[in-house]
Amino acid sequence: MKRYLIGILFVTLIIGGFVGFNAVNASSDQGNSINAPGQIKKDPAVENAQQLVLEGRQIFRFDTFGDEAFWGDTLKLHQAIAGAANGGVGPGVSPNTALAVGLKVDVDALPQPLIQDIKKGRVNLNDPATTLALLKLNAVVGINGSFDNSGKLSSVGITCAICHSTVDDSLAPGIGHRLDGWANHDLNVGAIVNLSPDLSSVANLLGTNEATVRTVLNSWGPGKFDAELFLDGKAFNPQQVTDGVVTGTNVPGATLIPNAFGLAGFNQHTWTGAWGSVPYWNAFVANLEMHGKGTFFDPRLDNAAKFPIAAQNGFGHIRTNPDDDLITSKLPALQFYQLALPSPVPQPGIDFNKEAAARGDELFSGKAQCNNCHAEPLWTEPGWNLHKPSEIGIDSFEADRAPDGVYKTMNLGGIFVRERGLFMKPENKGRFYHDGRFKTLLDVVNHYDKLFTLGLTNQEKGDLVEYLKSLSSP
Ligand code: HEC
Ligand code: HEC
Repeated sequence: MKRYLIGILFVTLIIGGFVGFNAVNASSDQGNSINAPGQIKKDPAVENAQQLVLEGRQIFRFDTFGDEAFWGDTLKLHQAIAGAANGGVGPGVSPNTALAVGLKVDVDALPQPLIQDIKKGRVNLNDPATTLALLKLNAVVGINGSFDNSGKLSSVGITCAICHSTVDDSLAPGIGHRLDGWANHDLNVGAIVNLSPDLSSVANLLGTNEATVRTVLNSWGPGKFDAELFLDGKAFNPQQVTDGVVTGTNVPGATLIPNAFGLAGFNQHTWTGAWGSVPYWNAFVANLEMHGKGTFFDPRLDNAAKFPIAAQNGFGHIRTNPDDDLITSKLPALQFYQLALPSPVPQPGIDFNKEAAARGDELFSGKAQCNNCHAEPLWTEPGWNLHKPSEIGIDSFEADRAPDGVYKTMNLGGIFVRERGLFMKPENKGRFYHDGRFKTLLDVVNHYDKLFTLGLTNQEKGDLVEYLKSLSSP
């Protein structure tokens, strides 16, 4: 077989040698072709792609889509961050408090003298004024502060990066170079929203009181957010069932923040993929979760039985005058950037055992049947990558909160990051499946072993785990 392929290659090279010059000339408007020695003609598609990726990065990291109207004007988070001593309310948010709720600091936004001062412990990380200085430098990942002429923090907004980026801890835990697309599993979104001195608007929307809203927000914990709460008001899964056994009651409805890397080639996205793909979800999140100014259409949200809050508030019909729309024009570049984000590549010997992983590879597409759904090398099905809850042996609570009652075959590229707990607090490592019900990859494998009665030996289970840790996305 191999020799045959080499033969074809050889023949192709010879033929290519004869027709090569003509072929290059004929395609000179389409490819990066050579016109004259040393001169490369630019490909408009490549140039466009590069431009879109760079624009998309800027949007992903820094664009609030005008959501200050919500996080600042309505929730008044800026007042809580500043604290009474700096013209806000309450004790304020010091850098240490910000790091404790999982916010990250971008070392590349810090001037050298400040970096030296942090290294030498000369910066007061317990003073909210330091947080304000960091916001002025645009160094807090995913949070944009606006300052008035007197230097007072007048509003804040959030960007995609707050949830879908972390840092590499190069300077200190929580302070380092940005890692775009990496889910921030330290980020306690609920605790951050709970800093707001005024949650009455959220309580009104959900038809409840502020105390209840605060209880729900506190239930989420690090690395989780409930994107459907503001559609259906369902805060808790009454019964979590795994392999026919009740594994929890009143489990918070929040899901783990997924990675925003390694997504190219996927059809449906999000845990319950029936919502749509990347551009659908970006429009959804920017309008309905971040509360930016834009346009959004999805008549499925008119289903009052399923999405009472969304239907009542017309969330499927968000209209903004095109001149005031701060989201729609950004969707193409934003999509491009996410599709361009590679998954991290694990290192043999450090992140996984090479020999064991090779044996696990055989099991993955053989005895363990994983490849039936997580098709190599996409790690999801080319096509309709969605499954009924019963097919993967878990309850339907989260699936039923989305249009089709299904779960998406999740991407496995870069999953070693979570198993190792890379760049996250040790207590937040691991956690797999949408609600993090499995602590380790071995727990996941044990679940499938039971569900599909695979009869895997302990050695085989270990090999499969090593293989899972070796995966990255194409
Ligand atoms: C407050 C945290 C938060 C913010 C802000 C946020 N997301 Fe997400 N994102 C999530 C959560 C949680 C999910 C999973 C939702 C679900 O499945 O129900 C998700 C899902 C996704 C997915 C699907 C990933 C996959 O594996 O299928 C993509 C892509 C994504 N977000 C991109 C973005 C972009 C782009 C932005 C900015 C416009 C953004 N997110 C803002 C928390 C957030
Ligand atoms: C019937 C299709 C199907 C088969 C077969 C299958 N999976 Fe999955 N897998 C899924 C779905 C769907 C999810 C998402 C579960 C959720 O949303 O909670 C998932 C999630 C996972 C996750 C967690 C991903 C994350 O980000 O938390 C891992 C790890 C995994 N599968 C590994 C495997 C292994 C190993 C096998 C073989 C033993 C396997 N899967 C077989 C459909 C399948």
